[in-house]
Amino acid sequence: MDILVQSGRIFQESLPLVASCIWEDQALPQDIVDLVDPDDFQGRTRQTLLLYPRGVLPARRIFLVGLGKRSAADADSVRQAAAQISQKAHALQVEGFAANLPLLAHVTATTVAQAFCEGALLGIYRYLDYKSQLTPEQTHRVKQMTLVVEAHTAAVEQGVTLGRAIAEGVALARNLANAPGNAVTPTRLGEVALELGEQYGMQVQVLGPDELEAQGFGGILAVARGSAEPPRFIIMEHGQPAADRPTICLVGKGITFDTGGISIKPAEKMDDMKMDMGGAAAVLGAMQVVGALNLPLHVVGLISSAENMPGSRAYKPGDIIKTLSGQTVEVLNTDAEGRIVLSDALFYAQRYQPRAIVDLATLTGAVTVALGPHAIGLVSNNQALADQVLHAGQVSAERAWQLPLWDAYRDMVKSEIADLKNAPGRQGGAITAAAFLAAFVSDYPWAHLDIAGTAWVEKPARAYQARGATGIGVRLLTEWLREVANHT
Ligand code: BES
Ligand code: MN
Ligand code: ZN
Repeated sequence: MDILVQSGRIFQESLPLVASCIWEDQALPQDIVDLVDPDDFQGRTRQTLLLYPRGVLPARRIFLVGLGKRSAADADSVRQAAAQISQKAHALQVEGFAANLPLLAHVTATTVAQAFCEGALLGIYRYLDYKSQLTPEQTHRVKQMTLVVEAHTAAVEQGVTLGRAIAEGVALARNLANAPGNAVTPTRLGEVALELGEQYGMQVQVLGPDELEAQGFGGILAVARGSAEPPRFIIMEHGQPAADRPTICLVGKGITFDTGGISIKPAEKMDDMKMDMGGAAAVLGAMQVVGALNLPLHVVGLISSAENMPGSRAYKPGDIIKTLSGQTVEVLNTDAEGRIVLSDALFYAQRYQPRAIVDLATLTGAVTVALGPHAIGLVSNNQALADQVLHAGQVSAERAWQLPLWDAYRDMVKSEIADLKNAPGRQGGAITAAAFLAAFVSDYPWAHLDIAGTAWVEKPARAYQARGATGIGVRLLTEWLREVANHT
């Protein structure tokens, strides 16, 4: 969908669909006041009304979307309204539509434009790659969105650029996590990384079994042993380290299918475990945005990717493995594989002496028990970094909630016979998983995002989500990286 910005008055536009956001606590615009029965539409959040002005105004149809009270609205209200609008355009199968940008009390024009574009583009995202018979509704493409603004400023244009880049990054992450495990294998993730490198001029290295063996990636190799699919460790680098370009490492869990291994999962819902590479997908999506926006940072994307299967050579409960760090791990449950593959990536990240390491992983069912589908679980060894990530989550509406990392939790992952154990039991499961990871980052500022509860939705709660992968992490990471770049 192309996005145009134009100055003018929205109700003077003459496209087949003209949309406007309406405040609950402000009078209706004069142009439409006679077309609306106040019993039917008050501008409450998510309320909509389709009008046929029949020559009273130039547009064939006018679509109103409620934004609620102006004091309560934020960028995410705009994101959701924009998604409702693009969905209406799609449902009506129009080629193009116009919409005006609302003016929010405490949000800049750039951020409003960004949120609007994110919502409009993500609202019409659908995953249909494997449908061979598409309905006309499914094949329809809305080709153009015209944003009508009072003043056509650089701030609005910048918001459009940001919103488009971010929405495309989210779509990449969703596509990867929605794709089945037989298509998105570790090998495929490596190819996608190389393609991104090619497109945005990033250095990309993809290590396979022989290199992993030679360099001692004992964690990734142990998890990969049960599968015929060879593992990959992916290293992507945007920019170069410099005094004014701090190094940031993004680390993603890329288990392309998680059967649980020998500690096998129940059959019910096991198919969902094709999304166990949601962390890797977020890192790839964020790297795409970083490349598209050419952020003035040195960003290193690291992905540990393997398939967790119970093959005859699979690692077993009771095995003791030696990770890249040299630390040994007693495997008590082969289904706690994410922390094992991540241990190698987190240890590897230290060689860049990064200012911060952020990992994303669909790591534990326990985080879903704790926070449900509404928050990412955040665990960090550095409160300044944690605060930055929490803030970025708030601004991007990919909210995170912090859990503690006290020494008592670190003690829970110590093994009697090895350095660490991978599965200490059910209590505090989201935190002990993080405490395990913490043993591999030493003192580097590190934040861990457990996205197991938020990477997938059965019933979307917001208009810009679709059933399936959410692409969570891309918006948060981009927001945080932009903040880091702005404060360097
Ligand atoms: N990939 C799962 C976690 C998960 C669960 C992601 C639900 C998305 C939705 C992870 O590898 C796992 O199996 N974790 C175990 C750990 C346990 C064995 C210590 C879990 O959470 O049960
Ligand atoms: Mn598992
Ligand atoms: Zn897993």
